[in-house]
Amino acid sequence: MKKIQISPSILSADFSQLGNEIKRLEEGGADMIHIDVMDGHFVPNLTIGPPVIKALRKQCSLKFDVHLMISPVHKYIDSYADAGADIITIHPEATDNLETSILKIKELKKKVGISLNPESKIELITDLLNQIDLVLIMSVNPGFGGQKFIPEVLNKVKDLKKIQEEEKLNFDIEIDGGINFDNCKSAIDAGANILVSGTTIFRSNDGNIKKNINLLKLK
Ligand code: DX5
Ligand code: ZN
Repeated sequence: MKKIQISPSILSADFSQLGNEIKRLEEGGADMIHIDVMDGHFVPNLTIGPPVIKALRKQCSLKFDVHLMISPVHKYIDSYADAGADIITIHPEATDNLETSILKIKELKKKVGISLNPESKIELITDLLNQIDLVLIMSVNPGFGGQKFIPEVLNKVKDLKKIQEEEKLNFDIEIDGGINFDNCKSAIDAGANILVSGTTIFRSNDGNIKKNINLLKLK
């Protein structure tokens, strides 16, 4: 049974204080930092890129779980690896050749994740599951924090968990979008072992990060 980890999304952080915000997350017991990179093209929002990630890298020792919602993506993988990403997660719809991009991330000695949007089927990646370190199941349509959780994706988590067990694979199952205190147990019971959360961690309980992380871990 994999340890449940929390990867807070800084999309809901105070962008004028990002360095201090990731320090707060580290002190609050985060297992890694979820960095949502958006290009205003693959998704209708624009956030941060390599220069900001590079600056944040010096502020925190936690793993950077970088979620690339950009397309094209292949030609930018190097710059996110150089900026300090530890996990690089890409969307199949954003690259002409998913396998080439997976190989590229592995060549750079980074962990590779593939993200599935709510309407994307697992079949899109079943042949690649033995090559990747993480599957990111989107429980909202990518682009914004604070959206409503789409419960139907839990069936996809369960199916993925079943394949993982049957094929004795070891990839992490991360779920991302609308995760809160009411649905975190269902996500974990379905088979997710990494929970991404932005709004719930930064906004609940007067922004008590430590308390919110522990509540999401069912502690
Ligand atoms: C959405 C991002 C998510 C989002 C999570 O496109 O990938 O990581 O920021 O934020 P909440 O927890 O507020 O849904
Ligand atoms: Zn994300």
